[in-house]
Amino acid sequence: MKDIDYSYEYEDGDGKYCYPKTNVLRNKFDIKNIEELRSAERELSMARYFSMEAKGVTGDFSLEHLKSIHKWLFQDIYTWAGEIRTVDISKRTIFCLVQFIEPQFEIIFQWLTTQNFLADVKDKEEMSKKVAYLLGELNMIHPFREGNGRTQRMYIEQICKNNGRFEINFSRATKEEMLQASIDTSLCDCLSMEKLIYNCLQEL
Ligand SMILES: Nc1ncnc2c1ncn2[C@@H]1O[C@H](COP(=O)(O)OP(=O)(O)O)[C@@H](O)[C@H]1O
Ligand SMILES: [Mg+2]
Repeated sequence: MKDIDYSYEYEDGDGKYCYPKTNVLRNKFDIKNIEELRSAERELSMARYFSMEAKGVTGDFSLEHLKSIHKWLFQDIYTWAGEIRTVDISKRTIFCLVQFIEPQFEIIFQWLTTQNFLADVKDKEEMSKKVAYLLGELNMIHPFREGNGRTQRMYIEQICKNNGRFEINFSRATKEEMLQASIDTSLCDCLSMEKLIYNCLQEL
C-alpha cells in the first residue's frame, strides 16, 4: 500500500537529511531503499513505543519532554532523534517555519499551563475538545523532520494518563481518518479531530 503521508515535499531536495537526490532519510543502518527503511523504522519505533507506554508519564509536557519522547522512539534509527528539525517542511500543508517552532510551542505550553495540563478535566466532551486543540496545534508545529505523528500521539497519551480519568487509544482511528482530521484542522475546522478524539477516549 502506498504510504499516504510518508514523504515531505521539497523544492530543492533535502540534502541535509536525505541521501543525495532521494527521499530516503539518512539512517543508522545506511538503508537506502525507502520501503526497507519504512519497515525498519516502523518496527523499531513500535517496540520503543510499547516500552515507553509502560513507563507512564515521562516528563513535564515541556518542549524538552516532547523531544525526549522523539529521542526514545527513534533512537535506534536516526542520529537526530530528539532534535528539532533544521529544514522547513510541507505536505500540502505548510508546517511551522523552523524559526517559529520554539515560540509556537511556547504559546501552546503557556495555554497548557493555564489549563493545569488538562489534569482537572472530568467531562469527556470537554477533554475531547481540548485534546483535539492540543493535537492540532502540535501537528501544525511539526517539530521533527519525521516521526511527528507517533511523537505527538505519545505526548497526548501521557496528557491523558496524567489526568487519570481517561485513556486514549489511537488505534480506534484509521490513519486515513487521522490524516483527514489533521488536514481539516490545518484549515481551522476542528470538528473531525474532536470527533476522532472522542471516539478514541475511554473513561476509566
Ligand atoms: N497535509 C497534511 N496536513 C496536516 N497534517 C498532516 C498532513 N499530512 C500528514 N499529516 C499528519 O502528520 C502526521 C505524520 O507526520 P510524520 O512526521 O510523518 O510522523 P509519523 O511518521 O510518526 O506519522 C500524522 O498525524 C498526519 O495525520
Ligand atoms: Mg511519517
